[in-house]
Amino acid sequence: MVYLTKNYRYLKGASEEHVSEFLQLIKYVSGSYDSGEGFEKLNKEISDYEMSNNSGSSRRLFYLALPPSVYPSVCKMIRTYCMSPTSRTGWTRVIVEKPFGRDLDSAEELSSQLGELFEEDQLYRIDHYLGKELVQNLLVLRFANRLFLPLWNRDNVDNIQIVFREDFGTDGRGGYFDQYGIIRDIIQNHLLQVFCLVAMEKPVSLKPEHIRDEKVKVLQSVNPIKDEEVVLGQYQGYKDDPTVPDDSNTPTFASIVLRVHNERWEGVPFILKAGKALNSRKAEIRVQFKDVPGDIFKCKKQGRNEFVIRLQPSEAMYMKLTVKKPGLEMATEQSELDLSYGMRYQDVKIPEAYERLILDTIRGDQQHFVRRDELKAAWQIFTPLLHDIDAGKLKAVSYKPGSRGPKEADELSEKVGYMQTHGYIWIPPTLA
Ligand code: BG6
Repeated sequence: MVYLTKNYRYLKGASEEHVSEFLQLIKYVSGSYDSGEGFEKLNKEISDYEMSNNSGSSRRLFYLALPPSVYPSVCKMIRTYCMSPTSRTGWTRVIVEKPFGRDLDSAEELSSQLGELFEEDQLYRIDHYLGKELVQNLLVLRFANRLFLPLWNRDNVDNIQIVFREDFGTDGRGGYFDQYGIIRDIIQNHLLQVFCLVAMEKPVSLKPEHIRDEKVKVLQSVNPIKDEEVVLGQYQGYKDDPTVPDDSNTPTFASIVLRVHNERWEGVPFILKAGKALNSRKAEIRVQFKDVPGDIFKCKKQGRNEFVIRLQPSEAMYMKLTVKKPGLEMATEQSELDLSYGMRYQDVKIPEAYERLILDTIRGDQQHFVRRDELKAAWQIFTPLLHDIDAGKLKAVSYKPGSRGPKEADELSEKVGYMQTHGYIWIPPTLA
């Protein structure tokens, strides 16, 4: 019950009647993580329910919203006491939440511990960004549209940014956050998953294994991160939280350039940027194209073509274009082709990421979940950098809450080729 109350936002839009019907279905069984008693009780409750339904099948899904340190003991208990009985048809699946470890070694250790208890097809490592509508749209967009096929490469793309911004700080989660920092909390998982879908090659088919094979390949093609292509920040006031140590060097902001060593992307910087306590809340992918060669309009300064995928809020895709400024003069200006979901899909309810991913788990579809080798490749990219930060070799610079973050991050983006458009702002259209 407590859990549901805390996550009430996931029930938004449901009528009171539905919520109360739903709550009637909930049972609460208490027990400790590492003793058999509670799990035996849990197993009895589940078995009684299955018997009373007399369906002949037993489908058991365990969602572990727990600290990762207790995953091994809880999984062992599930394995010992709560598995779906072989006498019935059905399955047992376990969803685990990030953080899956703190670095490569700890993640591998956790993976082997869980791997001894469950098969890979029973383990669902959830990353809720993979459940977002526009993240799921990436495969379709890239591989079902002729338009993008010839453009999506180093010949045409100058740089790509994947950006996450929040306009609030760690808000009471300082204790948790300080042990992880923004790279482990957002970049190594959420933004890197988005990166995979933007950068990977076309999978052989839509089978989950084929898609995940391609994600692993692109992750393995990422070069080691260079210190000079990293900016770390910490917002002023972060350490006022009593659960955060006074000498904390934990970044609440990071901008990191990834470079992919393959035929498609050699030389194209992928700037992964995430920050808390900034001036806005949004997540977006920004594909910036190269300048037009032989620019007869002399409009280069106005800005480049950019294809922007706004993941949230106000899901949208828009293409920034240079057009003739309407009027008598042959002047140019920046405008856009805009597909704003709120306008185009007015009667469609976009599901919550978790809603979709839990349904996938019930259906046994692992496409949008992180495979073990994918996780390993992800940690391989960030572990050396994280160890240097933990050892204090790289320092977080301070930035003002409510700002764009450290100015060094804008300088880094500019240095690697990003050209900011001035005097143009995309305004999400609203219904009249
Ligand atoms: C979580 C992070 O995974 O994602 C949080 O732990 C962050 O720090 C949250 O606030 C952001 O999720 P969303 O869906 O609101 O972008």
